[in-house]
Amino acid sequence: MRLAKGLAVASRRNVSPALSAAWRSTRPERTCALKVTRRAHGTTALYDELVRWYHLIDPPQDHADEAECYRQAFERAVRPPLVTLLDLGAGAGHNVLHLKRRFTCTLVDVSEAMLSRSRQLNPECEHIVGDMRTVHLGRSFDAVLAHDAIMYMTSEDGLAAAITTAYEHVRPGGAAIFALDATRETFVEETEQISSRAGGLSVEGLAWSWDPDPADQTFLTDYAFMLRDGNALRVVHDRHVEGLFPEATWRRLLAAAGFETESLARPIGDSGFDTVFLCKRPL
Ligand SMILES: C[S@@+](CC[C@H](N)C(=O)[O-])C[C@H]1O[C@@H](n2cnc3c(N)ncnc32)[C@H](O)[C@@H]1O
Repeated sequence: MRLAKGLAVASRRNVSPALSAAWRSTRPERTCALKVTRRAHGTTALYDELVRWYHLIDPPQDHADEAECYRQAFERAVRPPLVTLLDLGAGAGHNVLHLKRRFTCTLVDVSEAMLSRSRQLNPECEHIVGDMRTVHLGRSFDAVLAHDAIMYMTSEDGLAAAITTAYEHVRPGGAAIFALDATRETFVEETEQISSRAGGLSVEGLAWSWDPDPADQTFLTDYAFMLRDGNALRVVHDRHVEGLFPEATWRRLLAAAGFETESLARPIGDSGFDTVFLCKRPL
């Protein structure tokens, strides 16, 4: 997840705008004063028991700019008709909230808790629990979005499987967008401050993205959350692991799946643009 700019998040960037978050806790825990929250099925606290706080940590309104960028890119790339959109790893549906004005949207995510938030926000959309590496819906879409959830892919095999899923769900003449947060070449360590309140809930926190082993294919984002509900306050450390692959690996896997890939400049708040992949499935 790229923590969005705007109201809820006061950014304190050390080096670059490329803040990411990510995902599964597969690494050994390191010494930390805070409790490390982990759960058996591999998802993180943020997408499980902390879901009621999610809209404070990543406000839906902050996705408007990038959703508009994706809409325009699909309009350019897809041979009409352009009606249906599949969001792989759709989470709480914060991109779909904006995209559903233009597309008939289907959301897939491995977390039922996140999808239930999206059902509240996007009741008119179809929601399906599934893993983007293995899900087979048995139908194709005009457009497929694999947003920051693609960063959960922490092995090349996992990334290839997710790319294949996207390809198999795009019709010929359609397009997919892979909105990754960083490649091995663009990743930089950084911190981002979180400060948000709404409806009696308050969050103060810090996200710290860092790479303890530049030789491997992952980096960490450690979150320290102080969560206040009325007068009750708890502190949670949530560790996410994200895949980090060279751009050449991305392009090789996209080509192997059958995509024709071009770069797409995506707005990232007041920090400018980064680069994601716009991929056409040939006729
Ligand atoms: C940052 S959230 C996505 C937010 C979403 N892009 C939005 O617009 O609100 C990351 C999501 O990836 C999901 N995820 C992680 N691994 C996944 C997988 N293998 N298949 C499907 N979803 C996955 C998590 O459950 C989580 O909801």
